[in-house]
Amino acid sequence: MPSTSTPQIVRPARTLQGSVTLPGDKSISHRYAMLAGIAEGTTHLSNFSTGADPHSSLACMQALGATVVHNPDKTIAITGTAGSFIQPATPLDCGNSGSTMRMLAGLIAPHPHTFTLIGDHSLTLRPMERIRKPLMQMGAKIDLVDGHAPITIHGGPLHAIDFDTPIPSAQVKTAVLFAGFQANGTTSLTESIRTRDHSEHALRAFGAILNRESAAAGDIAKLSIPGGQKLRAVDATIPGDLSSAAFFLCAALLFPDSNLILDSIGMNPTRASLLDVITALGGKIKVLNVEEHHGELIGTIQVNGPAHGPRGMHIGGALSAQIIDELPVLAAIAPYTINGITIRDARELRVKESDRIALVAKNLKAMGATFTEHEDGLEIPGNQKLHGAKIDSGSDHRIAMAFAIAALRAEGETEIHGAEAAAISFPEFFTHLDQLCQR
Ligand code: S3P
Repeated sequence: MPSTSTPQIVRPARTLQGSVTLPGDKSISHRYAMLAGIAEGTTHLSNFSTGADPHSSLACMQALGATVVHNPDKTIAITGTAGSFIQPATPLDCGNSGSTMRMLAGLIAPHPHTFTLIGDHSLTLRPMERIRKPLMQMGAKIDLVDGHAPITIHGGPLHAIDFDTPIPSAQVKTAVLFAGFQANGTTSLTESIRTRDHSEHALRAFGAILNRESAAAGDIAKLSIPGGQKLRAVDATIPGDLSSAAFFLCAALLFPDSNLILDSIGMNPTRASLLDVITALGGKIKVLNVEEHHGELIGTIQVNGPAHGPRGMHIGGALSAQIIDELPVLAAIAPYTINGITIRDARELRVKESDRIALVAKNLKAMGATFTEHEDGLEIPGNQKLHGAKIDSGSDHRIAMAFAIAALRAEGETEIHGAEAAAISFPEFFTHLDQLCQR
């Protein structure tokens, strides 16, 4: 446990009650920061994510010539570079953010400069060949170090490609689309599993033309984006982050009389399978006041816990890819379910901010749970009693928060070591948790 900060103590709770408004969605904030930075004019954003990751994207846009103003009313004004990034004076620091590094690589590759993208230790361990491959096919010159950051991009004009995404990754898709709207010709892209489509909505919001052509078979569709497009600034409100809401939705499952209201949450259908999972586990969900902003659905979620405890379920196939960020917290509450939760087809968890399968396993074990670890997931029986323990976040925000939720039903206190990692996506997490918990 390398973190030297004071551990966060989480005590068991009796129930969760109350309402909370969550900061803006991390995924959408990244995209708006980047597209605002290349657009012409000044974009005004409300409810931008308070997480450190999207702020890495903002800082990179500043280094590339955009102006970013944080207003006293917490809105952010970004004056873009009207399609021409400058040569940054220093390497572009992506911090802990895979989204920043991968999506930005596509956005900057068509510009005639040399860019170096760096990140923290965790980001330097994450696979980057997945973005190098399509961008090289488009004509970009990109150097990696053994498949990893630091990334050096020798930018210049790119040409369109037809690309079939080999792994379900919205970050890879976005890198190709962000390069594609600036390339020569029309780039097309097919996904085997449909991933979050925030980039498609954001590109359209900034005035880009992008087509989605549904194929006969299931959900597989072809996206096409003409090159040579210019973007123009927008005014937008970022929806609350459903992946942050996930921690409270899972917490609500643990108490029969829980009653939570989560305001103005993003409910994009490519993210919202989580709500079906919460329902399948026995949570009673009501969605109120749904509105659409720039293609994104926003609504208020009310959730009550199941009367007889959460049921179990098998999570696999496309569903694992669609709720990949929520799997750690689902695994952390799995021992408290009646029939257990099995997670498979989730090998990608091993190359997130940490090896999330290994860290979930380590921390479940510390709390006294039994389970089976697989290369692509975990099989966690239900009906188990856990005890408080020392949790190692591994500097991974979602692990820190997932085990704070598991702690609510454990016997005794839990110490979350490296709890400050929560600030990567959700700095207010522990304050909100404390306000919602009744003890
Ligand atoms: C994200 C896509 C997912 C997700 C990440 C955010 C995005 O990553 O895990 O937290 O905003 O596009 P992959 O694209 O690598 O699956």
